[in-house]
Amino acid sequence: MKPTRLTLVGNWVLDRFPLTKLWNEHMAHYYAPKNFNFWYYFGSLALLVLVIQIVTGILLTMNYKPDAKLAFDSVEYIMRDVSWGWLVRYMHSTGASAFFIVIYLHMFRGLLYGSFKQPRELIWIFGMLLFVALMAEAFMGYLLPWGQMSYWGAQVIISLFSAIPVIGDDLSLWIRGDYVVADATLNRFFAFHVIAVPLVLVMLIFMHIVALHEVGSNNPDGIEIKNNKDANGIPLDGIPFHPYYTVKDIPGVAVFLFFFATVIFYMPEMGGYFLEPANFIPADPMKTPEHIVPVWYFTPFYAILRAIPDKFAGVISMFGAIIVLFLLPWLDRSPVKSIRYRGGIYKKALLLFVISFVALGYLGTQPATPTATIFARFFTAIYFGFFLLMPIYTRWEKSKPLPERLTDQPALEERISDLREVFEEITVLKPGTVQNGTSFLGSNVLMRRPNPKGILNVIIRLAKKLKESLD
Ligand code: HEM
Repeated sequence: MKPTRLTLVGNWVLDRFPLTKLWNEHMAHYYAPKNFNFWYYFGSLALLVLVIQIVTGILLTMNYKPDAKLAFDSVEYIMRDVSWGWLVRYMHSTGASAFFIVIYLHMFRGLLYGSFKQPRELIWIFGMLLFVALMAEAFMGYLLPWGQMSYWGAQVIISLFSAIPVIGDDLSLWIRGDYVVADATLNRFFAFHVIAVPLVLVMLIFMHIVALHEVGSNNPDGIEIKNNKDANGIPLDGIPFHPYYTVKDIPGVAVFLFFFATVIFYMPEMGGYFLEPANFIPADPMKTPEHIVPVWYFTPFYAILRAIPDKFAGVISMFGAIIVLFLLPWLDRSPVKSIRYRGGIYKKALLLFVISFVALGYLGTQPATPTATIFARFFTAIYFGFFLLMPIYTRWEKSKPLPERLTDQPALEERISDLREVFEEITVLKPGTVQNGTSFLGSNVLMRRPNPKGILNVIIRLAKKLKESLD
């Protein structure tokens, strides 16, 4: 058969660019463990959110003005006058929080299955650099709407640097470009937020994935599939990433987009957690808001900062809380990776760590009363205890013997019973009166109402199943 013009063009490109080779190496012939579960959705979701942020960010930049006199009004203009501007802005602001939710779950998966352990230390380090870059990106983006919280949040965080002995004052002046947060600060944050940090993020993601594909993915059993290969050198417990996982990721994307759209269309401010009320007031350098609170994803670290009485020690602890995460591959001395084969101490320590992280996150949103400060100190101690005592308790505890091959365990999503049954359990049929505005439509109509007992049962069952999925 005579090749079509398209085939000829395709072959011309393929002779000069290794597209097929790249596709095979990283998708069609990349063998991933066949037991990926719920926790393995979040890497691809992080990629999706990054794309959403870049596309909506480019669209916002078309109408945003990085000028202290115009910035706030330009955001209002986007919200009110630009066609679909409100949607683009809400996608971007919700996307920022979604990014952190996805990343925190992605990092938690690492803690569950020991994905940071040898030979994946570099994947973890690139991941941590991504986390730091993401925090910088979010922090600088938050100044751009030039609202009260943008302004005062930046003022507080930048002035933290002045606590560093000797160079502190000069350093914070250098970051701000002025004696207070001002137009110069806004301009440089804009430059970093729209181009410099996104470039770093993309570069780091590339290195993160290259490092992952060099050593291969970990899995919920935490054993290496490369140790059991067939005669052709293909891992016996591996399946090609494409089409198996590209297809598996689609329902994950659908569920994520469902929640993402629900927030955008019904609760874009998320009760003041995603967009803070004080940020609807233009920045006023003469008026400090009553409570200066960062966005929720920074609050665990902010609570650690406030928990320490000395400012410099507080700053060190706050940065220390991030630095210990970098050291994780060397702090964990367990002979096994996955939580399934670890002893009870790690499981309890991880649970305490999660509780302390969430509690610190909550305390960081609250005013620093004396009682709140005591609690914050207690949870800060647990946070650091989890990491600093790790070399001791992971060596101490007895782990279970590892299986030779991947085990056939149902994934979390397979353990959740029929959705219809769950719906019937969490609701109850009750007679009621139906009204549409002021017009009466009928009485004694059977309606579904929430059933607290059923909801509690489902939550308890879900928690048990979640625990089983870790065993
Ligand atoms: C923009 C941020 C990030 C993106 C887009 C991203 C993307 C990905 C993707 C696509 C994978 C492979 C699929 C998967 O295993 O879920 C992956 C794996 C991994 N990531 Fe990330 N990641 C990001 C941030 C992080 C962070 C902050 C950490 C931890 C500090 C991290 C640690 C890991 C580890 C350890 C693996 C290997 C997991 C395993 O094989 O079990 N990543 N990442």
